[in-house]
Amino acid sequence: PVLVVDFGAQYAQLIARRVREANVYSEIVPSSMPVADMLAKRPAAIVLSGGPSSVYEEGAPQVDPALFTAGVPVFGICYGFQAMAVALHGEAAHTGNREFGGTPLTIAAGGGVLLRDLEAHQSVWMSHGDCVTAAPAGFTVTAGSPGAPVAAFEDTERRLAGVQFHPEVAHTPHGQEILRRFLYDIAGLEPTWTSNNIIEEQVAAIREKVGTKRVICGLSGGVDSAVAAALVHKAVGDQLTCIFVDHGLLRAGEAEQVEKDYVAATAINLKVVDASATFLGALAGVTDPEQKRKIIGREFIRTFEAAARELDAEDHVEFLVQGTLYPDVVESGGGTGTANIKSHHNVGGLPDDLQFQLVEPLRTLFKDEVRQIGAALGLPEEIVMRHPFPGPGLAIRIIGAVDEERLEILRAADLIAREELTAAGLDRTVWQFPVVLLADVRSVGVQGDGRTYGHPIVLRPVSSDDAMTADWSRLPHELIAKISTRITNEVREVNRVVVDVTSKPPGTIEWE
Ligand code: XMP
Repeated sequence: PVLVVDFGAQYAQLIARRVREANVYSEIVPSSMPVADMLAKRPAAIVLSGGPSSVYEEGAPQVDPALFTAGVPVFGICYGFQAMAVALHGEAAHTGNREFGGTPLTIAAGGGVLLRDLEAHQSVWMSHGDCVTAAPAGFTVTAGSPGAPVAAFEDTERRLAGVQFHPEVAHTPHGQEILRRFLYDIAGLEPTWTSNNIIEEQVAAIREKVGTKRVICGLSGGVDSAVAAALVHKAVGDQLTCIFVDHGLLRAGEAEQVEKDYVAATAINLKVVDASATFLGALAGVTDPEQKRKIIGREFIRTFEAAARELDAEDHVEFLVQGTLYPDVVESGGGTGTANIKSHHNVGGLPDDLQFQLVEPLRTLFKDEVRQIGAALGLPEEIVMRHPFPGPGLAIRIIGAVDEERLEILRAADLIAREELTAAGLDRTVWQFPVVLLADVRSVGVQGDGRTYGHPIVLRPVSSDDAMTADWSRLPHELIAKISTRITNEVREVNRVVVDVTSKPPGTIEWE
């Protein structure tokens, strides 16, 4: 793999994604990892990420010079660039010339390998207080900026290079090009990380692990579990049974839609379990969000185990498929354990005495890769491009206790919002569009000729890349107006519609 060494902040994940967009496999490792351990992973190249520290600060993460003598190509970015310069006896300094945001870069004649043939004046994204003032011996300086006299350097002989700016962000127009040049032209790597190769590798790994045993997969209707199931099905065919739990907290038409899409798209055995009475019974009167999540998580597993027991009557089920993604693994500290996934993404987490071994074929993948693989496996667009929907469903979108009546109100409002978003052609622009019912709040309104005392509905459309951060979507006012008019006309109990204009952070995407 290409190892992306994480010096903190949000940069490492983005760099890892960009490397993979160049069709080269990448993994993130913490900067605290000893060089020997990094080398034991037999890295094809190493990228040192940016980070919030200052190189000369007490306790700032350093780079062990041994990293540069192992013959592995290294690319330093921002903090990683400075740390590299210092480790190789160049100089970095705190000059007081901070650069933040779009910054003019001047490329030296030729531009070396990294910046070859690019226009001499480029805009790049900078975010630094310190800068490299002298490149280490053996390096050619290929660019500078007003606040960073040495903004790019390379030693193609030793296959080492670095840049002060951030090539991974979209605000550096030629950033991806520059990253590719490091990977292909300096490190000499081949673009072999493609959907088809990933599928082949995973299918082989699943076959190896599962053998002739039975496997079950909880289908949620979302893209992750669908793609995980499709991969496992490709690997072991009818040894797989998918289970779709209808917990009564789904949106209008959702259970039918999922059933229809899957049956049409795949030949996977699908078992639909209606457990809505049990879930709603267990949730009665509960208002605390965490409490709701815990109850749902517990009921989910119970339903699931019961379904597996029914199958067990025929043959023992040994494996459970989970759609865990790479960001979950990274967030939970690198993923050495078997099931260290955020409870968030697994509806309350898994019990310690779980009877199954886990199969997690998406554990190394980002969401956009999962979508590509889904498409390559022939899953239809309705599944592959579906908006994420949380496992606890509408229960965490009703602020207050959950009951059938409130669910009906929310389903009606949610359906209108979804219909209008689709009609406006904005399904792809918006990452996710939660609709929330403030069930314990009432306000005065006038509908028809009379006073009403109804509930507000909150629209929460967001744009995002990976749900870790998000911004509120700037929907056209006419669209919001239409949704508002329709909801207040068609859903009797609602007399007010508001739009949530909070980014994440500080808000989360869901209200609970
Ligand atoms: P938040 O609300 O934390 O949500 O910004 C981030 C993303 O995760 C989804 N989400 C969940 N998904 N089980 C899930 O499978 C959960 O318990 C859960 N809670 C939130 C949310 O819809 C958003 O896409």
